[in-house]
Amino acid sequence: SNVPIRTICCIGAGYVGGPTAAVIALHNPHIRVVVVDRDQGRIDAWKSRHLPIHEPGLEDVVRIARDGAAEVRRRGDSATGEAIDAARQPNLFFSTACIATIKEADMCLISVNTPTKTRGVGAGRATDMAALEGACRDIAMHAKAGCILVEKSTVPCKTGQLIKDIMEAHRPGVVFPVLSNPEFLSEGTAIRDLMQPDRVVIGCESTISGHRAAAALANLYAAWVPRSRIAPIGIWSSELCKLAANAMLAQRISSINSISAICERTDADVGEIAKSIGLDPRIGPQFLKAGLGFGGSCFRKDIASLTYLAESLGLPEVAAYWQQVLTMNDFQRDRFARHVIASLNNSLRGKKIAILGYAFKKNTGDARESPALDVIRILLEEGPKSITIYDPLCSEADIRRELSVLEREYAVSMPDGPVRVVSDPYTACTDSNAVLILADWDMFKNSKPFTSSKPVTMAETYDGATPTDILHLTPNPKRATINKPPTPP
Ligand code: NAD
Ligand code: UGA
Repeated sequence: SNVPIRTICCIGAGYVGGPTAAVIALHNPHIRVVVVDRDQGRIDAWKSRHLPIHEPGLEDVVRIARDGAAEVRRRGDSATGEAIDAARQPNLFFSTACIATIKEADMCLISVNTPTKTRGVGAGRATDMAALEGACRDIAMHAKAGCILVEKSTVPCKTGQLIKDIMEAHRPGVVFPVLSNPEFLSEGTAIRDLMQPDRVVIGCESTISGHRAAAALANLYAAWVPRSRIAPIGIWSSELCKLAANAMLAQRISSINSISAICERTDADVGEIAKSIGLDPRIGPQFLKAGLGFGGSCFRKDIASLTYLAESLGLPEVAAYWQQVLTMNDFQRDRFARHVIASLNNSLRGKKIAILGYAFKKNTGDARESPALDVIRILLEEGPKSITIYDPLCSEADIRRELSVLEREYAVSMPDGPVRVVSDPYTACTDSNAVLILADWDMFKNSKPFTSSKPVTMAETYDGATPTDILHLTPNPKRATINKPPTPP
């Protein structure tokens, strides 16, 4: 009764598809895993020595699975070479041939982007399903009968039904089991999260073909994950548990941030509060760091999707409850930026601001949905002479792409306008009136010697770093210690 899986097609070579496929391939050397994407540049990068995303440990996994033992040995990659089985053949491939790969697959992992709709019905909140529908149409037209379809992307509850409807429209009567297998990895720790997951959630329909498909997927994970951590549940619970998990994590951040606002007006210290409430095992210590609020590509969009779902189901009270998590997040950034302006005598005219850290958190080069962008927007209203950004990992091109919205909103020109991206932290800080540390990079942790006057702190620190400190520079910024930056990918 076991469904044999020989070839897996992973559609979408992004932050989720690439690392997930690589780890599945690493642990299942007899299965061919082909990652496909429409983006030629991304696929070329996955095939090269310079992977398109930076994740600690990712290169080792990709080298072993993509290149095989002989090649790893030939190149003398000692870090990866020692542990590798000498007979290991390459079993991880990257390609833009989506249709040809779908045709030969026994299982398709759908890891395409599911952003927020920007226009039309539900704009700003509903999930844009265009990429997912596109992938499903390709599968519907070309997959072998019985191919198992796995939702890895984060999707609204009941998307499994939409996928089944698309399949039925193109291939009436043919069974394509649909599973939900949400991904819980965090950027910056993706490989660790994939190698040692807290749980692997597999949602299926309660039919014979559904359970068989779920067992086939569970077997892939069981190659490295203890069975006790593989949780089979209903497909609708599985879809909704992903949105619920992200909403609950984000809600903790907004909760502690709301307390940080009270701390600022009293003499209470939000760090001490987080520490003491975190000692209650019912609350726990994680995700209680106050700061600029959450950024990143998922929390905001997933909560928006949840509020939209609640509203469409006629539950406005539920929608309003989760909406407040987003409101608090915006309030945090707004308050920080206003605090910066106030501490510079309510005027930024002729002043230079330096920003250290653009990405939404340390150890990632992902420039999307950065809290820094919201801060920059507010600062720009005050007409500063310049805002100079340094980030250890984000490429200048990626930051510029994100900043390009400012061209329209503020009619500032890029790259000659007031907002600049530089490749060195000292250059960013030279002659600045204020240095804003907006990400929790370890390299900024020692930036205290920067300060000539006492740092003005709004909320307490995040992860021991000082992302919300405003540091006033010494006349000679060269004296400041900034730790050595990491090697870019
Ligand atoms: P991404 O934008 O980095 O990657 C998606 C890729 O899919 C893109 O390269 C795009 O070109 C490709 N694609 C889109 N439609 C395609 C099609 N029809 N055929 C072939 N390729 C196609 O996105 P991501 O960050 O990897 O996120 C993917 C999904 O996983 C989202 O639903 C997201 O919510 C979820 N998720 C993301 C994270 C994260 O940390 N980034 C974590 C958990 C879950
Ligand atoms: C988050 C979740 O942690 C993952 O489990 C989930 O799979 C993923 O979203 C997703 O669905 O995309 P990620 O966004 O990569 O992962 O990063 P987090 O570590 O969760 O941080 C998110 C944001 O919250 C960052 O801006 C971070 O600075 C902020 N944060 C985090 C805080 O402000 N305080 C905290 O205590 C923790």
